[in-house]
Amino acid sequence: MKLKTKNLLTLAELTPKEFLGLIDESIKLKKELKKGVNKPILKNKTLAMIFQKPSTRTRVSFETGMFQLGGHAVNLSSNDMQLSRGESVEDTAKTLSRYTDCIMARVYSHDLLEKLSEHSSVPVINGLSDSFHPCQILADFMTIKEKKKKLKGLKIAWIGDGNNVCNSMIYGAALSGIEMSVATPKEFEPDKDVVKESKKSTKIELTSDPFTATKNADVVVTDTYSSIHNSDPKRIKKFLPKYQVNPKLMKTASKDAIFMHCLPAKREQEVTSSVIDSTQSVVWDEAENRLHTQKALLVALIRA
Ligand code: CP
Ligand code: NVA
Repeated sequence: MKLKTKNLLTLAELTPKEFLGLIDESIKLKKELKKGVNKPILKNKTLAMIFQKPSTRTRVSFETGMFQLGGHAVNLSSNDMQLSRGESVEDTAKTLSRYTDCIMARVYSHDLLEKLSEHSSVPVINGLSDSFHPCQILADFMTIKEKKKKLKGLKIAWIGDGNNVCNSMIYGAALSGIEMSVATPKEFEPDKDVVKESKKSTKIELTSDPFTATKNADVVVTDTYSSIHNSDPKRIKKFLPKYQVNPKLMKTASKDAIFMHCLPAKREQEVTSSVIDSTQSVVWDEAENRLHTQKALLVALIRA
C-alpha cells in the first residue's frame, strides 16, 4: 500500500483506511517472517536514524526491520553529528536526503521534526518526540487487533500521565473507532487540541478517577510517570498511589481485559509486577510488534 502522506509525525496524517491497512499489512509481514519468508522489498534503501534521546526498542526494531527488508540503517546519535556543533536542522535535512531514502528521528521538541520534514526530500518518521509517539501506537493497535480480533467498538482505559504516548493513542482511537477513557491528575491531562480533534470521530472521556476509566475497558494502558523529557522525581508523588495499575484496578476492567505498556516500565510505580507479569499482560507481543508495524510503515513510505 502507498500512503498519501510523505511523513509520519503524529498519526493524524493517516486516513482510517491507511491506519487499518498498515495494521493488516503488519500482521501479514509477521506471519511471513514466522514462516521464514523475508522479501528484500527495500533492497539498496537506507534509513538514517537520529537519536537525541536514549532508546532500546525503537533503535533495535528499526535497524532489524531495515535489515530484514534487505536495506540498511545508519544509527546517528545527535551528539556525534554536526548538529551538536550548530549545523542547522535545514542543512542536516538536505544533506541526509542526498544519501538516504528515509529519516527516523527521536527528538525532544516536536518542532524540530516538523522542520526536518519541511526541508527533507525524503520521508521523515517520528521515533518519539515530547508530544507524540506514533510508531508505538501502530504496534499497540496491531497487538489489540491480534488479541481481540477487532478494533472498532472496544474501550481503552489510559491510566496515569497524559503524555506523548497518550496523545498518539487518542489519535489511534479516533482512527479506529475505539472509545477511550483517560484517567489522569488534572494537571497531567493529554493535549487539548488532540482531544478536541479526536472527539469528532470517537468518544474520548477525560476523568481523574481510574475506576471510571477501567469500567468495561477491554484494554488497560499506562506509561511511566517520568518520561525522558519530564523526569523530575517529584512528579511521582502526584500519581501514587491513586494512578497505579495493580490487581485491584485490573479487576474493575472487563474480565478478559489485556494490559499494555510501551516500556520501559518502572515496576511498582505505574504498574505492579503482579500485573505486568500476569497472563493479562501483552507487553512482550506489544514490544515485538514495533518491528512488524515499522516494516509495514517503511515499505509504505519508501517503496517506489
Ligand atoms: N517504547 C519505546 O519507544 O521504547 P524505547 O524507548 O526503548 O525505544
Ligand atoms: N513517555 C515515555 C515513552 C518512552 C518510550 C517517554 O517519552 O520517555
